[in-house]
Amino acid sequence: MTQESDRRIKIAVQKSGRLTEHSLDLLVRCGLLYSRGRDQLICYGENMPVDVLLMRDDDIPGLVQEGVCDLGFVGRNIVEERRLALLAEHTPVEFEQIVTLGFGHCRLSFGVPETMDFADIRSLEGMRIATTYPAIVADFLRREELAATLVKFSGAVEIAPSLGKADVICDLVSSGSTMRAHHLREVATILDSEAVLIARPAAERTQHAWIERLLQRLQGVLQVKESKYIMLHAPRSALPRIAQLLPGSEAPTIIPLEGREDRVAVHAVCRENVFWETLEQLKEVGASSMLVLPVEKMLF
Ligand code: PRP
Ligand code: ZN
Repeated sequence: MTQESDRRIKIAVQKSGRLTEHSLDLLVRCGLLYSRGRDQLICYGENMPVDVLLMRDDDIPGLVQEGVCDLGFVGRNIVEERRLALLAEHTPVEFEQIVTLGFGHCRLSFGVPETMDFADIRSLEGMRIATTYPAIVADFLRREELAATLVKFSGAVEIAPSLGKADVICDLVSSGSTMRAHHLREVATILDSEAVLIARPAAERTQHAWIERLLQRLQGVLQVKESKYIMLHAPRSALPRIAQLLPGSEAPTIIPLEGREDRVAVHAVCRENVFWETLEQLKEVGASSMLVLPVEKMLF
C-alpha cells in the first residue's frame, strides 16, 4: 500500500498570463527542477515528488477545493470570487490562502463610459453591470445596499457597454490600458489583488512532508528578497546600540579581532533592507569597514 507521503504532490499554476513566469520562477528558487511534458501542460518534477499543472487561472481554486491539486498559485481576485460563490451556495470552502507572493498586483474596479456622469458609487443604483466576478460584485452591492443588475460574462467584459449589453463594467485593471482603449473610465476599486498561494486546509496538508518542506522553502525565498548580510567592525562598548540599529536582526555573531581588545567584528542577518541612513548611523556610533551583502538562501 502506498503511503500518503509517497504520493506526488500537484501544484496548479496559471497556463499563460501575468502570473505564469513568476510562479514557476518561485518554484525553481525553492529548488525544483522540472521537465515540461510533450503537451506542455504538465511540468514533471525531476528532483522532488512534485508536478506542476498549467491550468486556466479561473479553474485553480476549484482544483484545490476538489483535492485534485494540493497547492495553487493564483490571483486573490479569483480566490475571493470562488470563496464567495461557494459560501453563497452553502458549500464548505476547502482551500486556504496561506501566503501573499508580492507580484501580479492589480485591482478590481468599476469602469464607466467616458461620457457618463458618475458622482460616486451611489450612481450604480439601478444600473446593469457586466462582470466576470459576479460573486464579488454581488457581495459589494449587498454591503453598500445598492440594487443593480449583474450581467455575467466569461471574458471580454470591456466591450459590453458598446454592445449595449450593460451600462458599466467591473473588471480587473492593471496598467489601465484595456479600459482606456475601450473609452471606459475607472471610477472605483472594490478589491486590491496580487498573487497568493492557496492550499488544502492545514489538517490535510501537514500529512505530506513535501508540502511542508516546500512551504518552508517558499517562506525562505520570499524573505530572502529583502534580507541582507552585514559585516562590520565596531567598539565592543557600542554593541548594544549597534544591535538596535540593525533592522530585523537577531543574535549577531561577535568575533574578536586579532590584537584589538576594544574592537570586534559583527556579522548579522538583517530581515529588512539596509539603507545608507542605517550605515551612516552605525558609523556615528563607531562602526567601520561595513559590508552589506545580498542573501541567496535562508532556512530556519
Ligand atoms: C484582465 C482584464 C483586462 C486586463 C486589464 O484580464 O480582464 O482584460 O487584464 O489589464 P490592463 O489594465 O493592464 O489593460 P487578464 O489578463 O487577467 O486575463 P483573464 O481575465 O482573461 O484571465
Ligand atoms: Zn482568467
